[in-house]
Amino acid sequence: MNNFTYHNPTKLIFGKGQLDALPKEVEKYGKKVLIVYGGGSIKRNGIYDTVLSKLKEINAEVFELPGVEPNPRISTVRKGVEICKKEGVEFLLAIGGGSTIDCTKAVAVGAKTDVDMWDVVTKKEQATGALPFGTVLTLAATGSEMNRGSVITNWETNEKHGWGSPYSSPKFSILDPENTFSVPKDQTIYGIVDMMSHVLEHYFHQETNTPIQDRFCESLLITVMETAPKLLDDLQNYEYRETIMLSGTLALNDMLSMGFRGDWATHNLEHAVSAVHDIPHGGGLAILFPNWMKHVLNEENAPRFKQLAVRVFDVDPKGKSDYDAALEGIENLRKFWTVIGAPSRLADYDIDESTVEEMAEKTVVANPEFGNFKKLTKEDSAEIFRASL
Ligand code: NZQ
Ligand code: ZN
Repeated sequence: MNNFTYHNPTKLIFGKGQLDALPKEVEKYGKKVLIVYGGGSIKRNGIYDTVLSKLKEINAEVFELPGVEPNPRISTVRKGVEICKKEGVEFLLAIGGGSTIDCTKAVAVGAKTDVDMWDVVTKKEQATGALPFGTVLTLAATGSEMNRGSVITNWETNEKHGWGSPYSSPKFSILDPENTFSVPKDQTIYGIVDMMSHVLEHYFHQETNTPIQDRFCESLLITVMETAPKLLDDLQNYEYRETIMLSGTLALNDMLSMGFRGDWATHNLEHAVSAVHDIPHGGGLAILFPNWMKHVLNEENAPRFKQLAVRVFDVDPKGKSDYDAALEGIENLRKFWTVIGAPSRLADYDIDESTVEEMAEKTVVANPEFGNFKKLTKEDSAEIFRASL
């Protein structure tokens, strides 16, 4: 593996009733607090009221940025930046899923610069600092609660880009599995697909001698696959929610990628689909990941796919070539996602041939080649999209 430095500055506060820790954590950073949330789920499930009562304990002055969209928009980020600058906000609190947290990261950085945040998202400008922020996670999926990444969409230009900075890690994240009880079945499925995809993106890298990282990845995948069907039959089960919530965080808090860089091409492909069609991130990944796998699989890299197939996807390798065992593993992944209710074709979102070229173009706006396990071009993107129709 490569040399590496691992430093994750986010304090993880996990478990039942842990919102009690909120006032003490917020107070460290200031009392002028901007709460950021989505389309209203936190009002329906009571989390909004609980958070406000906790902030009252420290007499916080509370400002609000509601209405963060799934696939959060740069226009909402700009609104948040304006509130921070006008009101002298000292601390931001994201209450929601990955979209709300990603928007909060962009607002926090935007509040400390005079440049437009879209220029930071598109890497024309550098982040220079950020207001401190924390999160109350309500949906297990992205891992944004314990990483420095953020994904923002510009609906005027149909672009969706990931960005990150040394300043965009949450100071703390509070994860109470009970706060995910109200997540509906479809969003629960998307979250499960997303966290599994993060593990898979890590798994496909070019370094050698990563046995611990391999086993970490495999154990996370096996655990999520054991737990997911039970959770989907029993959405209010604390222990299943707990396991899935912790899995989501560990899948993308950089712990799995010590000493190497994962592939991430499928995320790039999915962001292009979402940028044009505004579909749920996890839904897009369920469609694209098995097709990315089939596209890049060859005789040379088949042993890596076979290892995954045998250790995680119950493939018996006896009498099979590495390539055939690998293919069977990919099919088993596809089957698992289909059985739990994830989509398997772009047609499930009414996406047809007419936007393939446009989406393919969007995968290479930042770079003519992408992906680390296997370099892909615009032509590869178009082929993978066509195979996914
Ligand atoms: O908006 P509200 O009303 O809150 O409803 C949300 C939203 O409709 C709902 N929801 C969240 N918690 C709930 C709940 N409904 C009922 N009860 C609850 N407790 O779920 C819907 C989806 O929420 P969203 O935040 O969009 O989902 P997710 O966490 O999957 O985030 C997706 C976004 O994160 C980006 C994706 O591209 C997408 O934009 N990603 C961010 C990453 C990161 N920062 O590290 C990595 C990921 O790979 C991903 O790209
Ligand atoms: Zn993802």
